[in-house]
Amino acid sequence: MSATSTVLITGCSSGFGLETARFFLNKGWYVVATMRTPREDLLPTSDRLRLLALDVTDPDSIRRCVEEAGPIDALVNNAGVGLLAPLEGIALAHARDIFETNTLGTIAMTQAVLPQFRQRRAGVVVNVTSSVTLKSLPLLSVYTASKAAVNAFTESLALELEPFGVRVRLVLPGRAPSTSFGVNARPRMDVSAHEAYADFTQQVFAAVRDTATPVTYSEDVAQAVWRAVTDPAAPMRISAGADAVALAQA
Ligand SMILES: NC(=O)c1ccc[n+]([C@@H]2O[C@H](COP(=O)([O-])OP(=O)(O)OC[C@H]3O[C@@H](n4cnc5c(N)ncnc54)[C@H](OP(=O)(O)O)[C@@H]3O)[C@@H](O)[C@H]2O)c1
Repeated sequence: MSATSTVLITGCSSGFGLETARFFLNKGWYVVATMRTPREDLLPTSDRLRLLALDVTDPDSIRRCVEEAGPIDALVNNAGVGLLAPLEGIALAHARDIFETNTLGTIAMTQAVLPQFRQRRAGVVVNVTSSVTLKSLPLLSVYTASKAAVNAFTESLALELEPFGVRVRLVLPGRAPSTSFGVNARPRMDVSAHEAYADFTQQVFAAVRDTATPVTYSEDVAQAVWRAVTDPAAPMRISAGADAVALAQA
């Protein structure tokens, strides 16, 4: 990896993806920042920045994006959607949506870039999952399952790609109330509410809103992704954010 390397990041319209794009640009990298709806006003103008449309649940969108991007050195699978709700209230179609984006989107993007990485015997894939896979929390059964599947996927894939010089790593952020994650999840959460769990749900929501405990910032995640991409000695799982680091050490 060098300052002339190129990273492709999914889900750059807000939060961790946007900050990670900014971080790599500041480090002198070429950045392909992908968004479902590309917006020119989010990142600084740079001849090292390209904005491409990408929906990770759409095979045609993935094919077009990877073709247009051309050779890349690193892929960051960051795009993801949340769902904090009791399982009884979650329509199976919504559970599928979570897996389509968080799990299959990551798998599909990885498949799309692997031929070029394998042929060049170089490249890094970084998958952003979550510290909730380290310590379970209520109302997150489907979301946690979608991210735990990515952990397992990544750790197995790393073994089969190692002989080809391709690295695969995980970044596990903690709770980050400052991103758009909660707002983006809200419509799915509202339709997944269940009367029998109303009191319990309110208690969990209050705990989630608590600002007294350590949280994760987008910059923590950008730094962890940077380490995963640029440090060949980086561990398989890198926690991002004070809360996630504390959890991993517990
Ligand atoms: N915030 C947290 O507490 C937290 C904690 C641990 C892990 N994470 C994980 O970190 C990642 C980033 O989350 P964030 O906090 O930065 O949330 P965010 O601000 O909501 O960003 C998520 C990004 O994913 C994009 N996205 C959603 N569906 C997509 C699709 N089908 N195709 C392409 N892009 C899609 C969103 O784009 P649109 O604008 O088009 O919707 C957005 O850019 C996610 O994988 C999330 O699960 C978040």
